[in-house]
Amino acid sequence: MRDHRDLLKMNERSLSQQAAVRRATFSPGEVKTLRPFSIWEISQFMFDIPADTLRKKLADDPSLPQGTVEEEGRQRWFTLAEINELRRRLRFRGKTLLPRRPKGRAMRVAVSNFKGGVGKTVVAQHLAHAAALDGYRVLCIDFDPQATLTHSMGLVEVREWETVWGIMCRDLCREADRITATYDDPDDCPHPSSDELPEDVQSIGAQRTGDFIQSTCWPTIDIIPSCANAAFVEFASAQYRALHKAWTFFGCVDRYLAELPDDQYDLIVFDCPPAIGYQSLNAAFACDILYVPSGPGYWEYDSTTSYLGQLGDAMADISEGFAGLAEEAGLHLPKTFRDVRLLMTRFESGNPLHQAMQDAFANVFGADMCTHPIEMTRAVEQSGRFQMSVYEQDYRQMTRETWKRARQSFDRAYAEFKATVLDAWDQADSQTGGAS
Ligand SMILES: Nc1ncnc2c1ncn2[C@@H]1O[C@H](COP(=O)(O)OP(=O)(O)O)[C@@H](O)[C@H]1O
Ligand SMILES: [Mg+2]
Repeated sequence: MRDHRDLLKMNERSLSQQAAVRRATFSPGEVKTLRPFSIWEISQFMFDIPADTLRKKLADDPSLPQGTVEEEGRQRWFTLAEINELRRRLRFRGKTLLPRRPKGRAMRVAVSNFKGGVGKTVVAQHLAHAAALDGYRVLCIDFDPQATLTHSMGLVEVREWETVWGIMCRDLCREADRITATYDDPDDCPHPSSDELPEDVQSIGAQRTGDFIQSTCWPTIDIIPSCANAAFVEFASAQYRALHKAWTFFGCVDRYLAELPDDQYDLIVFDCPPAIGYQSLNAAFACDILYVPSGPGYWEYDSTTSYLGQLGDAMADISEGFAGLAEEAGLHLPKTFRDVRLLMTRFESGNPLHQAMQDAFANVFGADMCTHPIEMTRAVEQSGRFQMSVYEQDYRQMTRETWKRARQSFDRAYAEFKATVLDAWDQADSQTGGAS
């Protein structure tokens, strides 16, 4: 017979193995770093200008970042910070190299589906990396207690109060006090104020906005991380919800993000857990665009269908149940998305079943379906425990063609994603009359 102690022992063995893999992956120093990028990549994939033109511009102005020449070879390599400086300072054919950024706050995109293993994290990671390479400032929020995105961004030691769960606890304190203050006599309030909440919740209530944001090895990507221990959040959240019946528990992250200055980020990417619960509802209520990845199998089609139904039902219930409380809590119900897009992932163009599933998805979802699927690529599949994106992998470690094919698949998906985001952003900007 075996019990929870066996599970904990197995967990301990596995953790020590994990630490060994981490040492090997991030050595030296167990720190994930971002590689530099070559002139070939910058000119072809980022600036879209001929390499010789870029070389000439660099030679003409020695005050521009000049990158570093590798020891063996003549190729020049640039850090992302250098590339962004070039973007700010160079023009090509009279045009800026900076990406277009409408006014207003950052656009928020939730990558969500309740099927595990469909490629949510890979999609969220690659969209974030592609956007950062495109010159945007990105905040990632890892809503998934499995913390795959957090690990892939190089963070390993994350505490519970630094996660979305912490944001929810802090929000409960703030909302509890706001609601109490709406009564002339606080004693008339039927709900607790923050000093009547559990002590661990109260201590998180004192955290500041910036305390939840951590930097990553990408200079222009920050993250609100998750941690494996956060699995208990669903438990705890249900308890807190019972403690305070007027708490709009699904609006915590939306309210939190409203505290950030409009101009701090351009894009906020949410990686969601494979379940509909407190965390994923917060993601749904905070996002502008819902991006739903699905693999090309029958069962993935079934579970995507049921995900859409269950999320729709949950949101309808909330809209009804909280209609009277939302407005004062800073929320508009029913929640509206600026767009909902379905994206096929792990697609093999030579596989007739995948082709058939893509046709079926296109028939059903029509224009809501992304045109370009994310292809199944060995470069991603074999990227190791800490899941290096195609963008992070050095093309010299495989054949250049293999790398280029993988990268182009993600680039096409990103180009489509960017068009969706910019459309939504322009809509938002025109509704606020262009005011930021
Ligand atoms: N386009 C892809 N090509 C190859 N492998 C992929 C691709 N997308 C996802 N995978 C692999 O499938 C597994 C599940 O992907 P992941 O993004 O973690 O799914 P989810 O977040 O939906 O659970 C991972 O091992 C990942 O490396
Ligand atoms: Mg995931």
